[in-house]
Amino acid sequence: MRVQPAPVSFEHLRSGLGIGVSAPRLSWTLPGHPLIQDAYELEISRGRDGETSCTGRVSGSEQRLVAWPGRPLASRERAGVRVRVWTDGAPSPSEWSEPGVVEAGLLEPCDWVAAPVGAAWPEDAEGTRRPSRVRRDFELTRPISRARLYITAHGLYEAEINGVRVGDDALSPGWTVYPQRLRYYTYDVTERLSLGANTIGGWLGDGWYRGKYGFDGGTRNIYGTDQSLIAQLEVVHDDGSTTVVATDGTWSAAPSPITESGLYEGEIFDARLHDPAWSTPDRPDADAGWTAVAVRQRDVRTLVAPQGPAVRCTEEVAPVSILRRDGGRLLLDFGQNLVGRLRITLDAPADTVVTLRHAEVLEHGELAVRPLREASSTDVYVSDGTGPQTWEPRFTLHGFRYAEIDGWPTAQLDPGAVVARVYHTDMRRTGWFECSDPLVNRLHENVVWSMRGNFVDLPTDCPQRDERLGWTGDIQVFAPTAAFLYDCAGMLDSWLVDVGIEQLPDGTVPWYVPVIPGEPMWTPIQPGAAWGDVSTLTPWLLYQRFGDADLLRRHFETGKKWVDLMDRLAGPTRLWDTGFQLGDWLDPAAPPDDPASGRTDKYLIATAYFAWSARHLARIAQTIGEDLQAHRYKTLADQVASAFRARWAHPDGLMRVDSPTAYALALQFELITSPAARKRAGDRLAELVLADDAKIATGFVGTPLLCDALTEAGHIDVAYSLLLQTQCPSWLYPVTQGATTIWERWDSMRPDGSLNPGGMTSFNHYALGAVADWLHRVVAGLEATSPGYRTIRFRPRPGGRIISAKARHETPYGTAAISWELVADTLNVDVTVPAGCTAELELPGQDPVSLAPGTHHASARISAGTLSPALAGEAC
Ligand code: BGC
Repeated sequence: MRVQPAPVSFEHLRSGLGIGVSAPRLSWTLPGHPLIQDAYELEISRGRDGETSCTGRVSGSEQRLVAWPGRPLASRERAGVRVRVWTDGAPSPSEWSEPGVVEAGLLEPCDWVAAPVGAAWPEDAEGTRRPSRVRRDFELTRPISRARLYITAHGLYEAEINGVRVGDDALSPGWTVYPQRLRYYTYDVTERLSLGANTIGGWLGDGWYRGKYGFDGGTRNIYGTDQSLIAQLEVVHDDGSTTVVATDGTWSAAPSPITESGLYEGEIFDARLHDPAWSTPDRPDADAGWTAVAVRQRDVRTLVAPQGPAVRCTEEVAPVSILRRDGGRLLLDFGQNLVGRLRITLDAPADTVVTLRHAEVLEHGELAVRPLREASSTDVYVSDGTGPQTWEPRFTLHGFRYAEIDGWPTAQLDPGAVVARVYHTDMRRTGWFECSDPLVNRLHENVVWSMRGNFVDLPTDCPQRDERLGWTGDIQVFAPTAAFLYDCAGMLDSWLVDVGIEQLPDGTVPWYVPVIPGEPMWTPIQPGAAWGDVSTLTPWLLYQRFGDADLLRRHFETGKKWVDLMDRLAGPTRLWDTGFQLGDWLDPAAPPDDPASGRTDKYLIATAYFAWSARHLARIAQTIGEDLQAHRYKTLADQVASAFRARWAHPDGLMRVDSPTAYALALQFELITSPAARKRAGDRLAELVLADDAKIATGFVGTPLLCDALTEAGHIDVAYSLLLQTQCPSWLYPVTQGATTIWERWDSMRPDGSLNPGGMTSFNHYALGAVADWLHRVVAGLEATSPGYRTIRFRPRPGGRIISAKARHETPYGTAAISWELVADTLNVDVTVPAGCTAELELPGQDPVSLAPGTHHASARISAGTLSPALAGEAC
């Protein structure tokens, strides 16, 4: 068998170009080979003459985030890295992998010569906020060997060289805490340049930097008033010399044909003001209308390379229906609630104004725009009448399934004339699930779509209304699902850096990150349970799923400050029972206008999370070798747990607050410990769920825990009843209403088709989709039992009416998969264990079996007693 490792990858990145660390960690997989690695050898070649260095044979099975074995990379240095491995005691090594290529970005502040440049006219005042473009012409007189563009902006940018767009990313540089971290991207632009005259230009948009963002009309100029490009084009010539074209006072600026642009508002593009040759050296307009730029300041030490992928268009969706409305309006249904923007192709007379409006749902047959609040989500194209044009807005995104087009020049819309382009952080898809129940499959599909719609550079709550913020609680509960579906390690690691930056000196973790400073509704920022715990629970989760212990080190201090704050707030009682809390947010029992007023006491939740975060901090400390801290926080966690029991639980396991969330927390956060009390608590939880006819009675806090709590308490049948319930509130109710994403509220749309009257009614919020993690781990039965899926448990748990299920996950070591099917009284199971991993297979009524890498088949006879009653009927 010819073994060849897959190409080496770097950190958590999909591409090694422009990497921001000088000693990137290396990972590889052994696809298709049922093997365990005994040793590896890494070879690094660098420089023009291919200087190589080799580690020689290194004993060990590690394939993941292996330390850079050579001299660190210098800025701009490029290297090819390949690996070969020895496996299963074989004397000779595998083939070398194809080389993975890495190239450092600008690692030192002194590498930067570019300054922010933008319009010199006062374009910030109301009414004069028309975006600008900047550009510069330059000559290249020596043959070009390679060229890189390092670029970012105050605001958003899209670069062009010689009339051609650079890259295919959108909304770059994304949103970070700009004063401390502004991302730059690196592009290989060698092919864009030619000997002789060249032009580089940049479109600019307000974006998060100075656009209107946040609640109640929003805040403008969050980070500054300028709209500027920071670009450094470095051209290496064949003779080894370099030409640098960087933003400085030699650039010029002009008002853009984008006359208005905002992330919430949408974009207006006036083609009559557009010269398509504006970024080419041979444009007819020469320099009419272009004036010298203003040069601004930026501390270049704050420029950082990306840790994860950029936002890109990942799919195009055609309308499934087009209806004509009065006044010539067209109503388009894309059949899927998505996040992106429309691309239109039209041939319209000059001055034709085409207006595109967007909404997630219809009400009385018209776009329901009330849930968008102040996000007008309207794009406008004004035609110049020069023939067929294709246009798509640049610096905005909308959450929509429906669009209304007004002013279309022809009576009919040609197929293909309008397409919805789906945008999100371009993470690698890594997780799939399917089962015999179509409603559950649609639920899962909805979770995937809600993740896509809300992983837009940062993890947001919703993509459509005047919010779209990095709510900490939402991702805290959804991260386990997200980490299965997509490789989100780099993106979330980066966002957690911002969480640390935004943390207040006393340890308070803001409700959402980045913070909008001075935002009236959420100022002063107060500490809140479940939201602030993102600082401990999410790094731990990412470590479990991606096996990166450095990530734990990086975020340890943030988590520690958070737990220390709770410790101070609780004081000697160890009960956190003061201050503002969001509680079990959106418990269906809470009134539409007061989602924090659920049935579970907020301070029960606060102390439960305090204990759970302290316990996780202890685990983190242990993992990173901080033994004293590990001991300290374990002791604290034990004390908080016992204070919780004394205050909130009876000795027999019944809770003083008789709600599903109270029981789910007590059980899943290991707050009730004695087996007898746990049994009583689990039984009571099942009773409560059944008494409510297996309808949901939990919000953001209880919902992600509920099915696991029932499963582990021996009531998986009740968990299946909850999963398969279709009455409102339930996971499947929205599916029966035609939902194509996860809703914010259990009843965002009511059974009579009316919208929930609450001010927050989104149809694309991932938090309540956190149940998908249970689908993957329990229904399909694929679970990591050590960090990075080095060991896996396959444990199918048939139940409800589900008679088959399968899940596949691209683990850091390769593909892990399970597929099971119940045929009469036999459960047939096929599993795949990736190379480098081991697994246990646990079938009902059988002892666990250890599995080596490779594919395996097993079956078990199921006695009716081991199945839930509904399934026992089907199986026998
Ligand atoms: C957001 C949530 C968030 C919550 C907390 C909402 O407006 O959409 O998902 O966690 O506020 O208050």
